[in-house]
Amino acid sequence: MISHDSHPHFDTKVFGTKFFAEKNAFVVGGTSGINLGIARALAACGARVAVLGRDPAKAARAAAELTASGAEALGLAADVRDFQALDSAFQAAVGRLGQLDLVIAGAAGNFIAPAQQLSANGFKAVVDIDLSGTFHTFRAAFPHLRRPGASLLAISSGQAIRPIWGQAHASAAKAGIESLVRTLALEWGPEGVRVNSLCPGPVGGTEGVSRLISDQQAQRLVARIPARRYGRLDEIANAAIFLLSPAASYITGTTLMCDGGLLLSGYDGQPE
Ligand code: COA
Repeated sequence: MISHDSHPHFDTKVFGTKFFAEKNAFVVGGTSGINLGIARALAACGARVAVLGRDPAKAARAAAELTASGAEALGLAADVRDFQALDSAFQAAVGRLGQLDLVIAGAAGNFIAPAQQLSANGFKAVVDIDLSGTFHTFRAAFPHLRRPGASLLAISSGQAIRPIWGQAHASAAKAGIESLVRTLALEWGPEGVRVNSLCPGPVGGTEGVSRLISDQQAQRLVARIPARRYGRLDEIANAAIFLLSPAASYITGTTLMCDGGLLLSGYDGQPE
């Protein structure tokens, strides 16, 4: 039996509760899962945090949770495929919080479908959410960034590098995100803006794991992960906080794996 316990609470012992004091953060996709874990960590480190998701009720719930933890937070709803809606959400957040220091592009959609059963629209839906959504996020954020010093982070995934069976759409989209991150790092570096990507492995208790990994597959997967377990939300958040922070001030255009070594294992998700 695979444990789905994900220890949602972020420990501030390493970075401290004032690490991001006076910083404004915007987390796209931050209303659940890994991205909410990152939003919680940013809030615990003293940042003001806007979270955005497609579902207004989930956005309100996430913002209420962050506010109850003592942070200044707001929840916004938009579909990342709709640039105008996202742009308006950024303007609303900047109106409330001020210029942005930390922006996370984490919205993602995914499902398992072998390419020959994947419709053109299914492929497009995932590329639009993941890849275009990441471009839309960073493009809408750019005029509102405090420069120099702003730091942007895309949430990518190991299939950007190693393809996963049944994931032509997500693998292509994540590979595109990697290229986009490097291009933006090149163009925006002279403005004092860093752009990086983080590739989480499977994290227990998330929608990603429950959607993409069957219980039978989970046994084989965990046996292949060098760490022999799923990741936790706080472990992904720690990696995100590092890349976003001044501790990574000379790091841009790079990809950090946070996957317990999964990428090294050659796991390709093929059913038995
Ligand atoms: N297998 C094959 N095709 C699928 C599918 C599946 N499991 N789920 C959706 N599709 C196809 C649909 O059939 C449709 O194509 P069609 O018009 O040719 O029939 C296309 O994808 C779009 O589906 P739709 O449900 O209209 O899109 P949406 O915009 O409402 O939802 C998704 C986007 C498809 C990514 C949806 O899975 C989603 O909203 N996911 C939420 C977030 C998520 O996936 N989180 C996990 C992150 S790891």
